[in-house]
Amino acid sequence: MTKLQKIDQAIRSYYERESVADKLIEAIFYSIDAGGKRIRPSMLLDIIEGFGIELKTCHYQVAAALEMIHTGSLIHDDLPAMDNDDYRRGRLTNHRQFDEATAILAGDSLFLDSYGLLAQADLPEDMAIALIKNLSQASGTFGMVGGQMLDIEGEGQQLKLEELSAIHRNKTGKLLAYPFKAAAILANQDDATQEQCEQAGILVGMAFQIRDDILDVTASFEDLGKTPQKDLIAEKSTYPSLLGLDRSYHLLEESLNQAIAILQELKVSKGFVPDKIIRMIERLRLHA
Ligand code: IPE
Ligand code: IPE
Ligand code: MG
Ligand code: MG
Ligand code: MG
Repeated sequence: MTKLQKIDQAIRSYYERESVADKLIEAIFYSIDAGGKRIRPSMLLDIIEGFGIELKTCHYQVAAALEMIHTGSLIHDDLPAMDNDDYRRGRLTNHRQFDEATAILAGDSLFLDSYGLLAQADLPEDMAIALIKNLSQASGTFGMVGGQMLDIEGEGQQLKLEELSAIHRNKTGKLLAYPFKAAAILANQDDATQEQCEQAGILVGMAFQIRDDILDVTASFEDLGKTPQKDLIAEKSTYPSLLGLDRSYHLLEESLNQAIAILQELKVSKGFVPDKIIRMIERLRLHA
């Protein structure tokens, strides 16, 4: 089995018990199986390996929990009351395929089940608690959900750059920083190293949302699997709308470079092997 298949297997195994509501399971797997890039869980696994640790089932379970929260966030992000999108991952959005109530509940399930899965992982208790605490902070009121609130409040307004960067850091950055921090926790690294990893992750996360904003303007439906030009229609402040495309490309490059520099430092100070994660980060570059 490939790594991606093992991540999916870890998600699937959580739901292998008698179901309460078959339609809910169907809606959950409609979005899980829609072919997302799995960038967050893949980064987690690559960084764990960079610390010289052999991947075990528990690591795939942490990766799976992270992907479940991400997929739930997309289902809710697409709802009519949020971004009102019809397509995601190349197919109809969850609420268009099923209905709004089912999509809301499928998102709720993915958010909450992720913690059930994390709690099942065969890990030392203090490590499991640290992983749960950090996942909650990255995804809830003090992370992704908080950022989504700011994003919705900001529609129709011309935001300042600091305001936009706070939105991006929270709605996207923190959930992308989670694999960096979580890998350092799983590798038993000290607080300073965990912090350094998280910093690299925050930079990758900022870059990722700047890239998403650029692609919304420049890419096609076929490339994205979602409708382009949506940010303009919703009057969202984005990096391209505030700074123009050239400066956005530049900031994307700069953020990726800074993240890579942190990982290179960890190579020198901690013997971290950054090759695989750097290769993944390099793939986020967009050559204008
Ligand atoms: C899309 O995330 C939402 C953002 C945070 C920009 P991804 O680009 O990782 O989406 P999938 O998982 O591949 O569909
Ligand atoms: C997504 O931001 C942030 C989430 C928390 C899901 P966007 O709204 O820009 O993501 P897309 O473009 O719909 O994938
Ligand atoms: Mg959105
Ligand atoms: Mg959206
Ligand atoms: Mg977008």
